[in-house]
Parts: sequence; C-alpha cells; structure tokens
Amino acid sequence: MEIITLDFNIKGDDRGSLIALEQNKNIPFNIKRVYYLFDTKSGVRRGFHAHHDLEQVLIVVRGSCKIHLDDLYQTREILLDNPQKGLYIGPLMWHEMYDFSDDCVLLVLASYYYLEEDYIRNYDQFSEIVSQHKKRNVGK
Ligand code: TYD
Repeated sequence: MEIITLDFNIKGDDRGSLIALEQNKNIPFNIKRVYYLFDTKSGVRRGFHAHHDLEQVLIVVRGSCKIHLDDLYQTREILLDNPQKGLYIGPLMWHEMYDFSDDCVLLVLASYYYLEEDYIRNYDQFSEIVSQHKKRNVGK
C-alpha cells in the first residue's frame, strides 16, 4: 500500500510557527470543505468508512491520534503527532481513527462538500466495490 504523507514548510521565526495550506500547491486538490475533530472521548474509535471519490488530507494540529488504513489487501497504522505532517487519504481507502490524546485536534481538508452518498460505511460493500474496481483495471 502506498502511504502518501505531506511535509509542510514551517514559516517559523522567534515568535513561533506558522503553516499555510493552499489548494493545488501543498494540498493536492481543490479544498471545498474543512472540518475538525476535538474533545474526542477516551477510547473512541471512529471513521469506519471509505469514500467513492473524496480526497482528504488529515493533519493533527495539536496532540496525537492514530489512523488505521485498509485498502482491502493491506492494512497500516499511522501515528499522527506532528502538525508539520499531513496524511493523504484518497478514494476507496477504508479508514478508522483511534488513540486520540485528550488535547487532539484533528483537522481535515476535503475535496468536496459533505455528501452522504459518497460514503461506503459497510465493510462488505467496500470489499465488493474494491474487488470490482480491481477486476475492471486488470490489464490497464
Ligand atoms: P461521522 O461521519 O459519523 O464521522 P466519522 O465517520 O468521522 O466518525 O460524522 C458525524 C456527524 O457529523 C454525522 O451526523 C455527519 C456529520 N458531518 C457533517 O455534517 N459534515 C461533515 O463534513 C462531516 C465529516 C460530518
């Protein structure tokens, strides 16, 4: 599985640090939506879905959390604990978020508005869609 992480430049000086995020520059898509998760309760695991088309970049701007990625063939656990790093999650990638620190603020930049029809929330359905997709792409 290819994991795409983004390293953002810090505009730092003796006052502190600043990171700027810009669509189609250091974020590889048009940004239509920004949301953030905070005050996540201890022990919570959330996500449990993939998207048909949506692209997202996850950035922990404070604290830490872990991301479970599953492309049907492989799984990976990614620790996000650095506001200088972004994790790209493209279409057809099952993901779950867990081990949120009390102070975690997880910022997400998304390529499209919230659209429930773009969600795949059932793992069996995810498996079916990815398998079909792979068959269609054989020989391409
Ligand atoms: P949910 O999809 O359960 O979050 P996650 O999959 O990350 O655990 O979202 C929680 C609620 O927030 C749900 O009612 C849908 C709503 N929501 C929006 O209205 N807009 C958004 O951009 C997102 C991500 C969620």
